[in-house]
Amino acid sequence: MSDRRPSAGFSTKFEEFQGEVDSHEALYKYSIGQTDEFWGRCAMSRLSWTQPPKTVNASDLNSGEIKWFQDGKLNVCYNCVDRHLPSHADKPALIWERDDSSKSRKVTYRELHEYICKFANVLKANGVQKGDRVAIYLPVGLQGAAAMLACARIGAVHSVIFTGFSAEALSHRIDDADCKLLLAQDYTSRGGKTINLKQIVIDAANKSKSLKKTLVYSEADNQDGWLDSFTDLSKQIEDASSECPIVEMNAEDPLFLLYTSGSTGKPKGLVHTSAGYLLYAQMTVKHVFDLEPSDVFACVADIGWITGHTYVVYGPLANGATTLCFDSHPLFPNAGRYWETVAKYHVTQFYGAPTAYRMLLRLGNEFVKSHDLSSLRVIGSVGEPINVAAWTWLHEIVGNSKCDIVDTWWQTETGGNLLTPRPSNQGAEIKPGMAMRQFYGIEVAICDPGTGKEIAWEAGQKIEGALCFKKPWPGMARTIYGNHKRFLETYYNPYPGMYFSGDGAVRDEDGYVTITGRMDDVINISGHRLGTAEIEDVLNSHLSVSETAVIGIPHEIKGESAVAFSILKEKADLNQENVRSELIQLVRGRLAKFAAPEKIYFVTGLPKTRSGKIMRRILRKISAGQIDEIGDVTTLADPSVVQLIIQKVVGAK
Ligand code: WTA
Repeated sequence: MSDRRPSAGFSTKFEEFQGEVDSHEALYKYSIGQTDEFWGRCAMSRLSWTQPPKTVNASDLNSGEIKWFQDGKLNVCYNCVDRHLPSHADKPALIWERDDSSKSRKVTYRELHEYICKFANVLKANGVQKGDRVAIYLPVGLQGAAAMLACARIGAVHSVIFTGFSAEALSHRIDDADCKLLLAQDYTSRGGKTINLKQIVIDAANKSKSLKKTLVYSEADNQDGWLDSFTDLSKQIEDASSECPIVEMNAEDPLFLLYTSGSTGKPKGLVHTSAGYLLYAQMTVKHVFDLEPSDVFACVADIGWITGHTYVVYGPLANGATTLCFDSHPLFPNAGRYWETVAKYHVTQFYGAPTAYRMLLRLGNEFVKSHDLSSLRVIGSVGEPINVAAWTWLHEIVGNSKCDIVDTWWQTETGGNLLTPRPSNQGAEIKPGMAMRQFYGIEVAICDPGTGKEIAWEAGQKIEGALCFKKPWPGMARTIYGNHKRFLETYYNPYPGMYFSGDGAVRDEDGYVTITGRMDDVINISGHRLGTAEIEDVLNSHLSVSETAVIGIPHEIKGESAVAFSILKEKADLNQENVRSELIQLVRGRLAKFAAPEKIYFVTGLPKTRSGKIMRRILRKISAGQIDEIGDVTTLADPSVVQLIIQKVVGAK
């Protein structure tokens, strides 16, 4: 293997501040001290504006009003594609690694530009105008990425819905955002299996009230004629003109909505706007991953998640690099698929999820070692905590002890990485399984959930509490679509003057941060965020179920899995096994396959306080076998249910 070029850490990457700052610490200090100057100078040099902004930051965390560069104008698609054409039109913009690798393809910036223009013309021809919401139910790949960028080109607001979601979940998201148009696909392929999306698309299109049209990209030959009732997207793109002017957008015009789960209620559509989001995507991918335009960046997330938005589409393309869309499964055709892909395209940065890393680590090192991974410089981890064993495996086996391993903490709401070991000084220490450092302009506050106040941190002290941020940054979400009140209540009211993440964290003696997990009723299955209430709602809709509590418990591979405790309605002839499998099917069909509970216990009562709140903490302790840590149950309305649940759970083991 050839020697890997070491990642640069802090180096000369900030052309804006050449000759002014000479270390990572100095630049971080500047970014925190003169925050508006820092972001303002970066915005001017990194983005191409049709009208440069005069104001930088008009945000106020007390009122939850976030505004960046508000009098500037630009177009996000232009920044990601058009502006790279003069210098590297023939360089691959996107590599689409398909399930069947023989069908994989490279798309140059010129080709991507042409395809997006055609796509955008199709959207316009189908009535989409600036500000309209467009739902995208497409897997990661050329069509998916181009659909997003085509929306951005004409000022439409996209809402990508992960293709693993059911028709009900899809139609709810379509209607919530009043989407006019749905862009979908008939089939996709994953792990060698054909996945039929047709029925989901038909059902969602029938259910949705706001949809005017559904355009379907067809992977098959329409033998059964199902496409006849929809518009054939592939055909229309083929016939469309390849010239499409950009629409000038205000910096604060919405770029996209993305639905994510909260601890209560239905999933919420977080709104990200144009300039601030793009700048934050451009800067984090460049400095966390040491990205150069000549690099091949492989983030293996789907575009249905924020990671796919920021680190598959917008971030790498805003930097003029090559982005790899991984449209397959890490075990297909064998556990070497990621590494074969890295070797095949000389991938320089690889960004994946702990669940997949944990799975691969168990299957043996030969799948890694049989490929030449010498092109890799940085390996990232995202979406859930990474355990030390998986981190060490990435470092020693995949990275051959020569790559930087970055455990990146962030959220749909934050737009991009907030906590990550890089950037830092070149060669600075990286601790296993720890997000460690704050990105430029980011200032952490660990708060006391009791008092709602920040806990003062001093070097040499270790503190723990709610993870908050006390300075706004350009990439943060602006609102929840149609529900600004919920936005304020969730993120800004709990700790006045700060953004509250919903996570807990420890800040150690050196100032480094470790995430301890969610503080609310959100669970994280294989990096997929779900509200326990969402699963409970589906289970409770079964005719035989009267009430349910869902909790997350640790899972060796998936990080967490869902466990349900359901009370059945009294019926003499109930076959519990049948009900159990019906319930699993119900969750798979109405929510998503990955949301199905690992276990369902039928119980006679749930541990509730006298005011009726379910004490999920007690259920978590019972499930973990920590019976002696359950604590005081005398405040429960009926303490005797605890013993009965213990018997059920212990009896089932
Ligand atoms: C969790 C994914 C530990 C966290 C980008 C957060 C993490 C939620 C990490 C957001 C990490 C994300 N270590 N936990 N490196 N990254 N999380 O919105 O609980 O899908 O609040 O965004 O995932 O999930 P989301």
